[in-house]
Amino acid sequence: MKLLIVNGPNLNLLGKREPGIYGARGFEDYYAELKQRYPDIEFDYFQSNIEGELINKLHEAGFSWDGIILNAGAYTHTSVALQDAIRGINTPVIEVHISNVHQREEFRHHSMISCACIGVICGFGLDSYRLAVEAFLAKK
Ligand code: DQA
Repeated sequence: MKLLIVNGPNLNLLGKREPGIYGARGFEDYYAELKQRYPDIEFDYFQSNIEGELINKLHEAGFSWDGIILNAGAYTHTSVALQDAIRGINTPVIEVHISNVHQREEFRHHSMISCACIGVICGFGLDSYRLAVEAFLAKK
């Protein structure tokens, strides 16, 4: 199984950015642990702060990978283009969020991409990514 993790804007700052909300751990550290935990899964990881680069990555992986775990950051709430990209590819996408967006500001309650994803996981900290891996494994 080949799973791609895609992180959007500001998620390169995990560990430094608003640790009260997103935790004190950097993503690279978490990603290393995730790979160790699932030695039979082929993972790749991509992060960009640029909407078009996220779309290009979805296009690149979206016809050959088995699953994409996408935390689109704030583009979740704004991007019709990301919704269209998810609709345009064959690979199923799970939307994840570290924080429980529904306990936060009103503008975070709506996602432009959920309707194009096979499911949404939010609010479990970095463990949201592992839960998405489990969801893909359960679907196999
Ligand atoms: C986030 C939630 C978004 O509302 C926010 O803009 C982020 C991170 C999360 O993982 O909790 O950048 O996607």
